[in-house]
Amino acid sequence: MRIVLVGPPGAGKGTQAAYLAKNLSIPHISTGDLFRANISQGTDLGKEAKSYMDAGNLVPDSVTIAMAEDRLDQDDAGQGFLLDGFPRNLGQAEALDGYLKDKGVKLDAVLDLEVPEDEVVKRIAGRRICRNDSSHVFHVDYHKPKTEGVCDICGGDLYQREDDREATVRKRLEVYHTETEPIIDHYKAQDLVVTIPALGKVDEVTRRAMAALGKGE
Ligand code: AP5
Repeated sequence: MRIVLVGPPGAGKGTQAAYLAKNLSIPHISTGDLFRANISQGTDLGKEAKSYMDAGNLVPDSVTIAMAEDRLDQDDAGQGFLLDGFPRNLGQAEALDGYLKDKGVKLDAVLDLEVPEDEVVKRIAGRRICRNDSSHVFHVDYHKPKTEGVCDICGGDLYQREDDREATVRKRLEVYHTETEPIIDHYKAQDLVVTIPALGKVDEVTRRAMAALGKGE
């Protein structure tokens, strides 16, 4: 399947993507994770992306679209993928439409994770991420690691993302409303959008998403 996950910062895209990708046997492609990997490796792309990310702004399309297409070109994405955080504005959505058209394939669904804004703020404020693997995501109240500050999965240090500070989160939410929400109408016009209420336990949300994809038990 070819799926796009949309939702405000902190909606649980990364959390759900990890389970959905495993259940559906498709790669989880997160542009945020790709940028963070470039930052930790000190690449030129990482250096360019960091200033935009730290300010809560989108990284320019010129770099983001090329990076996403390079990743989609890899063999493991040939039979399907779960995109998390891309596309994030109309220019990127149109670029993805063109890319898929050239390959002769189509998206199956755009899952829109719906969460009230006060919940999103609580989720982001308590989020902790593993330094070894950014797909290992915890929360100080909702998904506590067994030992504070230590990843249950690999024993790595847990840290708070630089862009999870309050002022930056406010900016990211504003950017989501102005830049990203319009892509939902773009995909509604293609009859691809399924809205998933994303309040409740992580596994309940996963079940709703799987059912929406016609993969329920
Ligand atoms: P990115 O990394 O994509 O961040 P985001 O979209 O802001 O989303 P988050 O990672 O903050 O949240 P999430 O929805 O994945 O939530 P999570 O699962 O962690 O992008 C970061 C930056 O990179 C952007 O600001 C931009 O600068 C740049 N960028 C990335 N893509 C780009 C693009 N295409 N174009 C341009 N720039 C781009 O969950 C949050 C917390 O809640 C966790 O602690 C989790 O444990 C907890 N939680 C999850 N589900 C539940 C639940 N059901 N109940 C209780 N707690 C829950």
